[in-house]
Amino acid sequence: MESKLFCWILLSLLILSCFVSQTNEKMQGQTLVYLYKSRLKQNFGVDTSLFKVINHVNEANVHPQVGLKEEDRIERLPGQPLANFSQYGGYVTVHKSAGRALYYYFVEAHHSKNSLPLLLWLNGGPGCSSLAGALLELGPFRVHSDGKTLYTNKFSWNYAANVLFLESPAGVGFSYSNTTSDYDKSGDSRTAADNYVFLVNWLERFPEYKDRDFYISGESYAGHYVPQLAHTILYHNKKANKTIINLKGSIIGNAVINDETDEQGMVDYFGSHAIISDQDVYQIHKYCDFSPNATTQSRECEASYGALEDNIIDINVYNIYAPMCFSSDVTTRPKKASILEFDPCSTNYMYVYLNRPEVQEALHANVTKLTHDWELCGDTIQVWRDSPSTIIPLLKEFMSSGIRVWIFRLVAIHKCMRET
Ligand SMILES: *[C@@H]1O[C@H](CO)[C@@H](O)[C@H](O)[C@H]1NC(C)=O
Ligand SMILES: *[C@@H]1O[C@H](CO)[C@@H](O)[C@H](O)[C@H]1NC(C)=O
Ligand SMILES: *[C@@H]1O[C@H](CO)[C@@H](O)[C@H](O)[C@H]1NC(C)=O
Ligand SMILES: *[C@@H]1O[C@H](CO)[C@@H](O)[C@H](O)[C@H]1NC(C)=O
Ligand SMILES: *[C@@H]1O[C@H](CO)[C@@H](O)[C@H](O)[C@H]1NC(C)=O
Repeated sequence: MESKLFCWILLSLLILSCFVSQTNEKMQGQTLVYLYKSRLKQNFGVDTSLFKVINHVNEANVHPQVGLKEEDRIERLPGQPLANFSQYGGYVTVHKSAGRALYYYFVEAHHSKNSLPLLLWLNGGPGCSSLAGALLELGPFRVHSDGKTLYTNKFSWNYAANVLFLESPAGVGFSYSNTTSDYDKSGDSRTAADNYVFLVNWLERFPEYKDRDFYISGESYAGHYVPQLAHTILYHNKKANKTIINLKGSIIGNAVINDETDEQGMVDYFGSHAIISDQDVYQIHKYCDFSPNATTQSRECEASYGALEDNIIDINVYNIYAPMCFSSDVTTRPKKASILEFDPCSTNYMYVYLNRPEVQEALHANVTKLTHDWELCGDTIQVWRDSPSTIIPLLKEFMSSGIRVWIFRLVAIHKCMRET
């Protein structure tokens, strides 16, 4: 069963790589470069020490969930084609007194839902929504160019698993906190703690998944979220001396793993693909100190890094040969769409769809009438407190605990490139 899941994911990833597309505003890759840049300026005060579990996750965070599962059931999404699997969407409170709640969208498997694993998916950022994972990447539906109707993704991961998309941390997508000062306390540790509290409560709501094989997956900055959540699960299982969550494996793609090599590798990649000049590559390597204990950066480093940023603003860093979107309009009638034809404007269609009141109602989202729009990568979160410089020690821990680790990289396939 496990290997079937892995095979399926591998197959669909090849197709998926075309669709990690850009938005008219910020996209996942750019959000990441902003983080790298802010980390180069140490006075931003990002704590880069190794990840530690916040030991405040306790019984008081676990609340009765009786009846909530049925309330979360999504009868049918507006404009959705027929489908035989069940869908759910709703909020799980992760901090009662602060009024902090995370939004999830859950699609059960097309078949054998009672035996297939449970798989959590997280997008990165920090600050990007996992609903992009659902509607642009691995979920069962894609949004048509009219921003109103959906079509089927025959490569959806819910052929191989029951897939849970979580918008995290609070401030991302539909997830929120009633205590807005919470947003300024965002960071890796609080994200891991909230994600863990989410899961424990979600499993109370869906108790049939409590003992199920569980996998955590994600991309980009989720290279931090996934191992940190996995570590938090192992920590609490060990502390309780029982299997609270039956973690089997973790899967990360295009992942942030180890700043020093990630950043140098990114610079070399941009350089070797003529996205930044050889001169800038040379300057960055000469003047920027990517080591975790670097305390100051020279002005030359900042200048050449700024040039890098200017040069990637108009391209999709995950798919550099892909065409760009030049119109934020949706069409009156849906354009003919195929899962294999990359449409660079698909992020706009998703944006329009998810901001429709009837769609939000069907999803049980935005019940508190938030004051901002749903965004792929929003700016509600302005401060990121902690971001360990490496997560390799966590990956080592998993391998020695028998937890499977899969690290993948998306490569744009030929089909995407032909369209440029
Ligand atoms: C739903 O299930 C029925 C009965 O198994 C099948 O005939 C039908 O094709 C399925 N529909 C879809 C959209 O998969
Ligand atoms: C946030 O506040 C709204 C309005 O008072 C309330 O309906 C909602 O339940 C609160 N959210 C949480 C998670 O407590
Ligand atoms: C943990 O649980 C096992 C079996 O459930 C038991 O044998 C063992 O003594 C427990 N360890 C501790 C430290 O409580
Ligand atoms: C970083 O700090 C460690 C330990 O203090 C030291 O051994 C290492 O040389 C430092 N690295 C750089 C690039 O300065
Ligand atoms: C929530 O609903 C309000 C009122 O309809 C709307 O203005 C806002 O854009 C929505 N926010 C999100 C995150 O969907």
